[in-house]
Amino acid sequence: MARRTTVKRPARSAESAARPELTSLRPRFPILRRYDYLINNSLGAMPRATYAALKEYADSWASRGVLAWDDWLPMVTEAGDRVGRLIGAPPGSLMMHQNVSTLLAIVLSSLDYERRPKLVSTDLEFPSLLYNLHEQERRGARVEIVPTRDGLLVDEERVAAAIDDRTALVCLDLVLFRSSGIVDVRPIVEAAHRHGALVLLDVYQAIGAVPIDVRELGVDVVVGGSVKWLCGGPGACYLHVAEEARRRLRPMATGWFSHKRPFAFELGPVEPAEDMHRFMGGSPAVPALYAARAGHELVAEVGVRRIRERSLRLTQRIIDGADAQGLSVNTPRAPSRRGGTVCVDFEGANVAHDLLIEQKILIDYRPRCGIRLSPHFYNTEAECDRALEAIREIRASATFRRRRRETRPAQARR
Ligand SMILES: Cc1ncc(COP(=O)(O)O)c(C=O)c1O
Repeated sequence: MARRTTVKRPARSAESAARPELTSLRPRFPILRRYDYLINNSLGAMPRATYAALKEYADSWASRGVLAWDDWLPMVTEAGDRVGRLIGAPPGSLMMHQNVSTLLAIVLSSLDYERRPKLVSTDLEFPSLLYNLHEQERRGARVEIVPTRDGLLVDEERVAAAIDDRTALVCLDLVLFRSSGIVDVRPIVEAAHRHGALVLLDVYQAIGAVPIDVRELGVDVVVGGSVKWLCGGPGACYLHVAEEARRRLRPMATGWFSHKRPFAFELGPVEPAEDMHRFMGGSPAVPALYAARAGHELVAEVGVRRIRERSLRLTQRIIDGADAQGLSVNTPRAPSRRGGTVCVDFEGANVAHDLLIEQKILIDYRPRCGIRLSPHFYNTEAECDRALEAIREIRASATFRRRRRETRPAQARR
């Protein structure tokens, strides 16, 4: 039988002693005792406090029944304001929602393509964005997708050049999901505003890992979620619309909570609320708001600047380790251009992905990117080193060679 590769876990790294302020937070995340948790770009670790928060939700429903809505509804604004503080958005300028894909559809439903039919984006964005943009073609939109040169970064100059007086909206991810490249949105925002177009920024892969100030960036619309670096779990996504843009956007995708007077239950056309409720539609995902609270608070407590400092050190360490093995690094190397993830690729990386998980090293794999390693503030240097050492051992192992032989025919059939 082929030898199973295993990497030894030291009980406590020298680094834990050196940086007690961050590693002392590790007990607050139960999963860190079980796994080397390097998949924070996908699903951040659940804070221990989330158990109590979800119980609080269940208790409120069980004991107060319908009266619990008095607690639940204000949580929508509270959660929005909490996220807003993390991205420099003013109070009351965020609306919570279940997922980004739906939020994109809501925002796009606000556009009138008669005078401004053009939607500009790039081929490096998260698929939901591109799917939603192309669906707008059925309503008369014309989508222009600016191609990438290297697959790692957006070509900002080309995006800016694609914007004209017929452009309604430019849509971008701040940190790209595939390469973790950071987009320099400023020249794009400048070009868009010069032409009277709006800019939508998806900050999902950035928030909680990279400092963001939406007012400084000057973007009009921001979407994102809590699943990743915010450690808030699914269902707690948000939309920020700057005040001036809010006046221009009236969504066709609507619902009773979008009405100025939802509890009047008026019939006929909706009279949209002046504030962010105009984007709310229907009832909020209350359990998700409870679940997300501890993660939001922890990220605020640690501070995104501090997280970023640590992230740059850990990601550099991973890049150095990957270079030492001659692996491809599909993430920009410049610190100012690199988010919280390092994508490492090599022949058979998809097979190595499975073997790493078997060794309790949680990472993910994406085609045309490779294995994504994404340390958060609670991860240690030792965990990053172990992942790279495990990759080295796996690549040299008979199990790896055998699994690759077994998976090749299956892949060829697809
Ligand atoms: C940039 C980006 N946008 C959006 C999403 C997810 O969108 P949704 O909330 O619709 O699942 C992801 C998830 O990986 C993402 O990386």
